[in-house]
Amino acid sequence: MGVSTEPHTPRTPSSPRVVRWLPPWLQNAKALVRLALASVVSNVVIVVTGGAVRLTDSGLGCPTWPRCTDASLTPTGKYTGHDIIEFTNRQLTFVLVAIALATWLVAMVRREQRALATGAALGIPVQAVLGGLTVLTHLNPWLVAAHFLLSMLLIAVTFLLWWRLRASVPAPTSGAAVLLARFTIVATAATLAIGTVVTGSGPHAGDTASNGTIRRTGLNVSSMSQLHADAVMVLIGLSVGLVLLLRAVHAAAAAQKAAAALVGVELAQGLIGYTQYFLDVPPLLVGLHMLGACLVWLAALRVLVTVVPEASARPRFANELSA
Ligand code: HEM
Repeated sequence: MGVSTEPHTPRTPSSPRVVRWLPPWLQNAKALVRLALASVVSNVVIVVTGGAVRLTDSGLGCPTWPRCTDASLTPTGKYTGHDIIEFTNRQLTFVLVAIALATWLVAMVRREQRALATGAALGIPVQAVLGGLTVLTHLNPWLVAAHFLLSMLLIAVTFLLWWRLRASVPAPTSGAAVLLARFTIVATAATLAIGTVVTGSGPHAGDTASNGTIRRTGLNVSSMSQLHADAVMVLIGLSVGLVLLLRAVHAAAAAQKAAAALVGVELAQGLIGYTQYFLDVPPLLVGLHMLGACLVWLAALRVLVTVVPEASARPRFANELSA
């Protein structure tokens, strides 16, 4: 396709003045790609550390928000370590903010990337407020689920930003395969959403409120687990179907590789899922399952951006990069 991926970040006349103050190494396209990747990784990390808060029963380690206690911004040491875990997780938000802000600033030189970079940056304060509300509502399971799902949205936004910036070449393929790839991403999203309902119905609430109650959805955890596993079966069926279809239509290697990788992570995640179910959800495996959920989601997003219809099978920013 003759696409050069040589990093080059042309300033546009509309670049805000603040961009000119950035050190030259930050005005480079490679830096922008790295920052976008750092955003994806840090969003995954905060899902896993958030899981550690829940699984160590530290969810109310800092019993209020935005302060840690009514009297102090930071832990006072009265809460036997849970406060440190919850407080550390809250501080990670600042790392996320720093990376997202740097990405946003640098992305200002690329008009096409501004919407995504702005979405990635704005999602963080929204997520911080939602996290605060989960504390103030004593870990309402529906809010905990929304907190997790918003992280998935932020992972999708930052992944898309990274994917576009590195001008990856998509794989043009048949309409049927594109449709199947889209069904697969919908099934992945549904599996994630149902997974959060299993969590909200199960034993890992994150902590017990001061009046001794544990807030749960009230739904039957076995039925929810069954529904979750059924959704996984549908997802694996669609993904295997996609692998076979892509092979049958001789789709590009990149598309076949992305679909095969998706099936691989789904099977590994399914194995963790069944193991944790039969072992009565040990916290370490549940934490691994949360990391696996992020990896399944990333693999599905990769399929979505790789398996595209003929008309759009061109890196959107090829001209800009080869300029
Ligand atoms: C592609 C495969 C799978 C994906 C993407 C997935 C995703 C998820 C997600 C996102 C959660 C919620 C995490 C949270 O809110 O903290 C979850 C929870 C859960 N999943 Fe899966 N899952 C998969 C396969 C399975 C399988 C096959 C089982 C077996 C029954 C399973 C059992 C569970 C259980 C028991 C929970 C609740 C854990 C807890 O107490 O927090 N998962 N899953």
